[in-house]
Amino acid sequence: MYYPDEVVEEIRQKNDIVDVVSGYVRLQKKGSNYFGLCPFHNEKSPSFSVTPSKQMYYCFGCGAGGNVFTFIMEYENYSFQEAIKHLADKAGITLPEIEYSEEAKTKESKRAKLLEINKEAAKYYYFQLRGQHGELGLDYLKDRGLSEETMHQFGLGYSLKYSDGLLRFLKGKGYSEEIIRDAGLANVDEKNGMYDKFWNRVMFPIQDINHRVIGFGGRVMGDGKPKYLNSPETLIFDKSRNLYGLNFARTARKNHMILCEGYMDVIALHQAGFTQAVASLGTAFTSGQANLLRRYTEEVLLTYDSDEAGIHAALRALPVLKEAGISGKVINLEPYKDPDEFIKNLGREEFDHRIRQAENSFFYELRMLEREYDLKDPDSKTKFYNEIAKKLCGFSEEVERENYIEATAEKYHIGFDNLRKLVTTYAAKTGMATQAFRPKSGIQSKSDPDAGSKRSQRLLLTWIADEPVVYKQIKSFISEEDFTTDLYKKVAEKLFADLKEAKMNPASIISMFTDEEEQREVASLFNTKVEQLETLQEKEKAFRDILLSVKTNSFEYYSSRLGADVSALTKVIEARKSLEELRKIPITLET
Ligand code: CTP
Ligand code: MN
Repeated sequence: MYYPDEVVEEIRQKNDIVDVVSGYVRLQKKGSNYFGLCPFHNEKSPSFSVTPSKQMYYCFGCGAGGNVFTFIMEYENYSFQEAIKHLADKAGITLPEIEYSEEAKTKESKRAKLLEINKEAAKYYYFQLRGQHGELGLDYLKDRGLSEETMHQFGLGYSLKYSDGLLRFLKGKGYSEEIIRDAGLANVDEKNGMYDKFWNRVMFPIQDINHRVIGFGGRVMGDGKPKYLNSPETLIFDKSRNLYGLNFARTARKNHMILCEGYMDVIALHQAGFTQAVASLGTAFTSGQANLLRRYTEEVLLTYDSDEAGIHAALRALPVLKEAGISGKVINLEPYKDPDEFIKNLGREEFDHRIRQAENSFFYELRMLEREYDLKDPDSKTKFYNEIAKKLCGFSEEVERENYIEATAEKYHIGFDNLRKLVTTYAAKTGMATQAFRPKSGIQSKSDPDAGSKRSQRLLLTWIADEPVVYKQIKSFISEEDFTTDLYKKVAEKLFADLKEAKMNPASIISMFTDEEEQREVASLFNTKVEQLETLQEKEKAFRDILLSVKTNSFEYYSSRLGADVSALTKVIEARKSLEELRKIPITLET
């Protein structure tokens, strides 16, 4: 962190969370909290809460949460430093300059420069399109059915036939060759020296969710190659973490997002009123993009090209969505190639119809799989059914699996019992039974063996934050060292120190973290209510289990480090002692 803690804390205190959030979200007071529609995902009834006493916000729908800095970071897509600057300005606090390290300062100012130069370039292309020599581009775009208004909204532009138009323009504005090249706007080679990256193309500026231009795509106006040319990745342009059109789509307030392949598809869809459309940036759909979408929606409809390449891309994108917790569906575009052509030929109503008919990802995958088999041939048919069984084994939750077995049996006219038997046999035969059929406990996930201990650590912190009085009871047994997950350890350290002084300030704990995801996680620690258990005994038992689990994990953790870590032995001895004591003494939660 570059600014001293006191400064960060002062800025936070001078920006009341209710005031700041009210600038963006309409809040209504209910009891001691405020509620409103969450700006980070689409919803119809308010699950976004702001708690003045804690100076925090939390969404019970999507889990977004944090303090006033987190809010600005998430809403404006700012870095922690940018959020601090913004809120300091708002509160009339002058920030000390010196606290920036040289390296950080250079990087920060380079980011700013790159954003600035991209904006200048976008303006340049924009005016060329509308200028004396832009007719070719303008005709092309009009020809493709775009209105003036759409072109303006997406900031479309045109790069001239000369290979140094932009270069001269930018140099004239005082930009160095180095920064122009670093922005990916020019190329250099021995024969030609430096020249524009884009020329004689219609230009699509690519914006981040905050409408800032971070790169470009340029299309030839005809059949030249390559059809699209894109900016390279730069300090400000990470193709795996941005989506074309998301700056508009994120406020579309639909219960789903539409994911397509091309810039033109997004634009055509928006023009037709489907403002929930986004596209990846000329690369395969990534998990970074899926996580970005997860903030806004739980359902994504794919409208990839209907050709083989498109099908292939869809089959790769669906698991990526699933992994991020998004349910995927596929829109059928037949007989057209892509959404742009579809809309042009069949219009928006028909597309709306196709949206409502979007196919569940599992059945889409089966249908695509089916094409590889000849169902008239018994051998081939058997193989296909076995493949179905294999896929059904992928559902680890029993209810879900049963439902899918039922639906699949019906769809493919296989008897339910037969298919079920096939699934069970397949699972047993391949040893998948133990793996895939283990019921999801929510504690142990396959990919992360530490998930269980992490969860206990998390629960313990949540419990203490929710009912700070319990800390007194356990403070002789537990210390921050027992939290083996780095983030939780930092939280525990500060939380315990605060509690020892009989104060607790969750919002200031959040400011210790500069990363948005970390802030989110810490916020959720402080906004989760401990589950209401029936009786006090049940509650005491649950608390004791969590405590023992954290302590046992810490004991095992340090034991495994004996030899490698000199301080481990003391910790092991200490942990064993408290574990023994903990097992003996009763824990009373009544105060
Ligand atoms: N793309 C690319 N480079 C290429 C071709 C395509 O980066 N040489 C990317 C672009 O982002 C493009 C997307 O892949 O928008 C989809 O490509 P394609 O289906 O070929 O183009 P369309 O979007 O249909 O473009 P158009 O309608 O202009 O032909
Ligand atoms: Mn197209």
